[in-house]
Amino acid sequence: MTEIGIHDIQLATAHHVLDLGDLAEHAGIDPNKYRIGLGQDEMSVAAPDEDIVTMAAEAAAPILERNGTGGIRTLLFATETGVDQSKSAGVFVHRLLGLSPTVRVVELKQACYSATAALQMAAGMIARNPDERVLVIASDIARYELDSSGEPTQGAGAVAFLVSTDPALVAIEPVSGVSTTDVDDFWRPNGSTTAVVDGALSVTAYLDALHQAWSDFAARGGAPIGEIERFLYHQPFTKMARKGHRHLAKVTGAPLDESTLESSFAYNRRIGNTYTASIYGALAALLDLDEGRGAARGLEGARLGFFSYGSGAVSELFTGIVQPGYRATLDPARAAAAMDARTRIDVATYRSLHAAIGTDDGDVETPRVTTGPFRFAGLRGRARQYERTA
Ligand code: HMG
Repeated sequence: MTEIGIHDIQLATAHHVLDLGDLAEHAGIDPNKYRIGLGQDEMSVAAPDEDIVTMAAEAAAPILERNGTGGIRTLLFATETGVDQSKSAGVFVHRLLGLSPTVRVVELKQACYSATAALQMAAGMIARNPDERVLVIASDIARYELDSSGEPTQGAGAVAFLVSTDPALVAIEPVSGVSTTDVDDFWRPNGSTTAVVDGALSVTAYLDALHQAWSDFAARGGAPIGEIERFLYHQPFTKMARKGHRHLAKVTGAPLDESTLESSFAYNRRIGNTYTASIYGALAALLDLDEGRGAARGLEGARLGFFSYGSGAVSELFTGIVQPGYRATLDPARAAAAMDARTRIDVATYRSLHAAIGTDDGDVETPRVTTGPFRFAGLRGRARQYERTA
């Protein structure tokens, strides 16, 4: 059977970074609550001239440079922080990247889950048309009210990946366990720029969904837990993945080693919650940094377990096999460069950026802050304007 899966992957993040130690000091909270209690060190904060579209284009452009555009007939854009109620954010990206008019574009929404729906849809499309490739982009800005308990779990970032036959990185296995339950753990009402969340309920809803998705995965003949070498979880904050792993150990009775999660935390600890992109940021970190069987082979041949969760709530548990020679496609310096390039801001600057979101109306020209090739230039007749400057 032809393997289908992730052929290349790239992370991008926002222009600014806030150290959570500074946020803790401002709030009069022990910084260890954030660093150890939540497992987060920093969070990315978007500049006024960037958003999910510019981050998405930044993540996807290098993938197209490395792989060309041949065979790409579909761009799936996963987000829960869409910039328009009607037009897919992917259509802006389609133009910024100079994609052919014969590429279809659609946006998918179900909280943090929809990039996984995109991956599965892409796999289905490619199974039917094996010569095609699908560009999937997950991009989000996680935003809660100032001074709320969700505040230290904000973040901003995008992950783009190319789905194809004979993937260089991870072949996705066909068995999935899924779970859907109507629950009000987290949502963002129309017109609101911040999410509403019942924090405690969201944690239990995540764990319940993990249990249900695992049961479905096992019932459908998924791999035995002992044959899954690494687990990747949706990481709203990295401690949540630890909670998930402990819960899965309890549910299955398997002795799961928590230390094997560590390398998957490296990027999300510094970027924060990127909603749809989070689990794929965890994948990028794992593939870049996990030594697995040693420097030469890394995780070659290892089976990865993915738990993708989106509040509301839909989740999916599936597996993939790391491909031989996968390290040749990767360069850990790429993600490090994106994170290191951020400009550190103080709490006062962060708070004024946060307060300004959603206040624009009428025709507006956005001041230039970012230095990257893609920027949000402003509003004209309430339509969003984007520029490629390099
Ligand atoms: P909170 O009430 O501020 O935190 O909110 P807490 O009091 O529960 O403390 C958190 C942890 O820090 C605890 O550890 C404390 O013991 C520890 P735990 O018991 O959890 O292991 N702690 C300390 N550790 C070391 N030194 C100290 C210290 N003090 C305390 N000094 C909460 C936490 C996550 C609820 C909040 O940040 C929140 O509401 N976040 C947003 C919601 C969220 O991320 N939920 C996660 C599950 S839902 C999900 O993943 C979906 C989502 O991504 C969205 C989507 O799908 O669309 C959110």
